[in-house]
Formats: sequence, structure tokens, C-alpha cells
Amino acid sequence: MPDKMPQTPDMHWTLDDHALARLVDDLVDQGWFVGERFISSKLCQALHDELHTLAAHEALSDAGIGRGGQHQLRHDIRGDAIHWLDLKSQAQRHYLALMDDLQQQINRALYLGLFEFEAHFAHYPPGAFYKTHFDSFQGRANRIVSTVLYLNPDWPAEGGGEMAIYSSDDEQRELTRVPPEAGTFVCFLSDQVPHAVLPTRHPRASIAGWFRRNTSMEGLIDPAR
Ligand code: OGA
Ligand code: MN
Repeated sequence: MPDKMPQTPDMHWTLDDHALARLVDDLVDQGWFVGERFISSKLCQALHDELHTLAAHEALSDAGIGRGGQHQLRHDIRGDAIHWLDLKSQAQRHYLALMDDLQQQINRALYLGLFEFEAHFAHYPPGAFYKTHFDSFQGRANRIVSTVLYLNPDWPAEGGGEMAIYSSDDEQRELTRVPPEAGTFVCFLSDQVPHAVLPTRHPRASIAGWFRRNTSMEGLIDPAR
């Protein structure tokens, strides 16, 4: 269990009601939500610092694709390095508390039965990208709702590294492009929204996370990551 969390007056441990209401509406209407300044710059800064410390201590590993026995490294598909959140810092515990609030609000509004959240820091070095993909596949969807929080203050207009969201009917049709600016939060239905990370020109920091449901598949218990 995390240590008792000191609650300083300028720190919020729940999300803003108006932003939450818009998130739920957008998830229902279009399957995805983008919120700027959704998470405070102070918390983003602390998480960004932690990711840099992890990188300096070589605590990041190259990300792969596929789960369990299917896991493989494919730099032609994704080029980030990751570290799973482990509740070791106050900043992580703060962020996970906010995601717990979000989980409860989504369950209350949408009856999705989300019961667990897993997340990792991600660092994309210059030149890295993540090609168009879904985060889970219909019918085998233990990842139900995907989230991404960006941690890069003052992301330059020419920085690249945007997240592109495509139409579920036509993967060639781009619906929006989100710069990875600190505080921006993206949330979408994991098996319905094709998306990509466009090649970045600068080091790009984020936290990708997934709300899960414990679906057993053909008698197999939900496989571990
Ligand atoms: C992912 C992903 C998007 C982003 O990690 O699955 O799609 O913008 N990340 O970092
Ligand atoms: Mn993804």
C-alpha cells in the first residue's frame, strides 16, 4: 500500500468535474477525448523529472509489441523505452489516485466494469515513432480504455511527435493530431480507435495507461503484460 499521502492545499487528488463530464460525453459520442491542461503542470513536472532520473539510471527498457509469449522488439513499429509505474514516488501515487478517480467516474457513467489500471512511462528519443495500431482487439479486449498523459513543457510547433487519431471506418482518415504538450491528456476506447505516434524530433516523454477488465479468454486467465 502507498504511504499516507500528504495533502497540501494546492494539490488536487480528484479531477475537475467539468473536464470529467466532457471526457465522458466525448467517449460516448466519438470514442475518444483530448483535454489540454487536464493534469496540473506541477504534477507533470514531477513526473517528467522522475522519468529523467529513471533514464539516467538506465531503468528504462525498449518497448515491444504483443503480450506474453508473443512479445517481440520491433523498432520498425515502435521506438520508445518504458518503465512500468510501481507507486515508488509521491508523483506516481498522485497520478494513480487521479486515475482511480477517473476509473470510478467512467464506471459510474458508462458501466464499463473497469477494475484495474496499468501504466508505464515512455520515452521516445529523436526519430522514434509508433506506427498506427489498436491497443486491443475486439472480443479479446482486456484493455478497455486507453490513456496518455504528456509531460513535455513548451513542446515546439515543429517538434513532431504528435499523436494522430484515425477514423475507425477508414484508417487513412486522420481525425486529429495532438502535440505532446505537458498537461494534455488523451483517453479513448482501446479496441475502437486506430492511432499512431508520428516521428518525433525531440525527446518525448509521456505516461501511457490502460484500464482493464479481467476477461478470461477460452478458459485462460487474463494474460499478464
Ligand atoms: C501506446 C500509444 C501514444 C502516445 O503507448 O500504445 O499509442 O501518444 N501511445 O504516446
Ligand atoms: Mn497505443
